[in-house]
Amino acid sequence: MSVLAVIGGQWGDEGKGKIVDLLTARAHLVARFQGGDNAGHTVVNPKGTFRMHLVPSGIFNPHVTCIIGNGVVVNPRQLLDEMSQLRQHGISLNRLHVSEAAHVVLPFHPLLDRLEEEARGSASLGTTHRGIGPTYSDKAARVGVRMVDLLDEEVLLSRLTYLVNSKNRLLTQVYGHDPCSLHEVYLQYLEYGRQLAPHITDTTRMLNEAVRQGKNILLEGAQGVLLDLDFGTYPYVTSSSPGAAGACTGLGLPPRSIQGVLAVCKAYCTRVGAGPFPTEAETEIAERMRQRGNEFGTTTGRPRRCGWFDAVTTRYVAELNGVDALAITKLDVLDEEPVVRICTGYRLNDAVVRHVPTSLLMWQSVTPVYEEMTGWQSSTRRVRAFEDLPTQAQAFLQRVEEVSGVRVAVISVGPGREETIIRHRLL
Ligand code: IMP
Repeated sequence: MSVLAVIGGQWGDEGKGKIVDLLTARAHLVARFQGGDNAGHTVVNPKGTFRMHLVPSGIFNPHVTCIIGNGVVVNPRQLLDEMSQLRQHGISLNRLHVSEAAHVVLPFHPLLDRLEEEARGSASLGTTHRGIGPTYSDKAARVGVRMVDLLDEEVLLSRLTYLVNSKNRLLTQVYGHDPCSLHEVYLQYLEYGRQLAPHITDTTRMLNEAVRQGKNILLEGAQGVLLDLDFGTYPYVTSSSPGAAGACTGLGLPPRSIQGVLAVCKAYCTRVGAGPFPTEAETEIAERMRQRGNEFGTTTGRPRRCGWFDAVTTRYVAELNGVDALAITKLDVLDEEPVVRICTGYRLNDAVVRHVPTSLLMWQSVTPVYEEMTGWQSSTRRVRAFEDLPTQAQAFLQRVEEVSGVRVAVISVGPGREETIIRHRLL
């Protein structure tokens, strides 16, 4: 398979970073297509433990070209910090390319993100405060600044003059906040442009050329499909399209060029931030999952809400994205559970439905219908072949396949690269 999209099959934090890191061994190119530094991948490899927000996980493989696509929103300060951390560990950044058309997170975007969240009060979305929503809003309103604009003094000044003036009206008149200095923002971003110039390029042409040459390409999603702006639990979503379709618009790739879609799902579910979560577990079980799975946000450090595997949302994600296979991560987190559950349907009023609702009210009122299975209660950390898993763990995964309608190709039993069971090769 030469072009494979790796997407989050839940609400983000599924462990995509590790799976992409593994698959890059056979890839020539890895490309991020949406989101920004709201994402956080933790990658554990022989060089150390890295918390990455913008740079694709493929950077650790010296043969891989990494692309930050046009669909990503880039905070240049964050990107430069990550690059410097990687350089300190001897990782070359010559292979890192950022799309000229990617939009730029400006200092007032995180500020407005926070002020808007505060203004929503108890209806706040629980955003990461990284300015993601406000940056995508400006992109859609056609007033944003793109990476290419950082390379031209006149263009940058003219784009910023309009934007800073309009944001300052909002900051001062609506929020009673101090204004931003156009001069400071201009000089700072011009400098970011100077530093990033060697990396800013036409990544769409680069990618399409690689497709023509039959190179192995990994498209790396951030967040998860249930946070998709159109198909997620709106309005408790992020402002981009984390699914396979987002890979096309976020990179400039023709839909037919994507030959496979791998959805990464945990053996249970987590969600950070507010919003519907039908399979959220009772406090005690959720706390066990949180501790065992170290379920605290990479970006914000917030404790993640934890619950059981949801086959209803997995089927939905599979259908929306043409998912070919699942990677099930963190199976080991369930190792000590006496009973494990899989949600196979939602009870809504007196009926059982097997699809996800659109209305927020319905999302909030469904209750899960569970199948309970006996847990395996033994460690899976050292297992490297499906047949060597405890029988109950095999049964759990087989049931996940049956009720989700997708085969499980990869199983992760720990954070390290080697703590993985590969059943089917995907790239
Ligand atoms: P935003 O993307 O910062 O606007 O936040 C919108 C919602 O998406 C919030 O519920 C966040 O917690 C969630 N979110 C954003 N990025 C991630 C991620 O990488 N993992 C999990 N949740 C995320």
